[in-house]
Amino acid sequence: MGENSPVIISVASGKGGVGKTCITINLAASLSEKGKRVLVIDCDLGLANIDIMLGINPRRNLKDVIFGDVDVRDVIVRTEAGFDLLPASSGVREMARLLHEDIEKLKGIITHVSGGYDYVFCDIGAGISDTVLQFNLFAARNLVIVSKDLTSITDAYAMMKTIYRTFGRTSFEIIVNSVRDDDEGVKVFTHLDSICKRFLDFSPRHLGSIPFDEVVTRSIMKQTVLVRLFPESGAAIKMNQIAHAISPRPTQSSGETLKQEPSRRPPAIPRSGAPSAPR
Ligand SMILES: Nc1ncnc2c1ncn2[C@@H]1O[C@H](COP(=O)(O)OP(=O)(O)O)[C@@H](O)[C@H]1O
Ligand SMILES: [Mg+2]
Repeated sequence: MGENSPVIISVASGKGGVGKTCITINLAASLSEKGKRVLVIDCDLGLANIDIMLGINPRRNLKDVIFGDVDVRDVIVRTEAGFDLLPASSGVREMARLLHEDIEKLKGIITHVSGGYDYVFCDIGAGISDTVLQFNLFAARNLVIVSKDLTSITDAYAMMKTIYRTFGRTSFEIIVNSVRDDDEGVKVFTHLDSICKRFLDFSPRHLGSIPFDEVVTRSIMKQTVLVRLFPESGAAIKMNQIAHAISPRPTQSSGETLKQEPSRRPPAIPRSGAPSAPR
């Protein structure tokens, strides 16, 4: 068991394809390099692909734990990047639409295994399905990945709004990915922040921005984490800085469930005719 409680962190986005998985494995690798014990759980159930990005071919995965009798400890694999991985399956319909009790079972499994780690990252699917909301609530810290695309910003806003209005959660941490430079990252964050402040009455935290860099794609082709393959690249340096910024801080409590009442009353819905909020 770990000496301290593990920090469970969800990595989410409103829109898919914005870099959640790349960022998750690189933050995990970076923290592992610093001597932290890190577990990554592929929670993009049904479309899991962390194993592919790391070039590993696990014999068993989460499906065997949820639907079979396999012990979760026999499914977790140590990766060359230094962290442990709890892989999931791709193209399995039952995993894409887990029942409430399956999700509860999965949360119990995660709680059970997370004791031996400093950080547990849950790479979750895009959107606002019940499963995604459940994992966001379950994790004590919620990272949200956005790109500069307007649809990514509006979808991230919609996701935070849903989580806030359902659970009263306000402590989101934003990573802006695929930017030209830091200024562009700040601009994208400021845009998202101003909408959150105006319509949701809270301000997320800007964890940092990562430049668009073709080495990211090359690292995926080589099935090796960027921070190991191209540690001197601008994108890897930013990943390492963001990993550093993730050091423990006070969080909202984890382990709550979807049926719980909001801990804080949501604000009134913006008046019609108010300056346009994304959806
Ligand atoms: N900073 C970046 N620079 C260049 N390409 C990137 C960057 N971040 C992500 N990508 C590319 O975007 C694609 C989608 O990334 P991925 O992590 O799979 O997104 P998600 O998990 O959100 O669906 C990857 O193929 C990767 O090559
Ligand atoms: Mg992904």
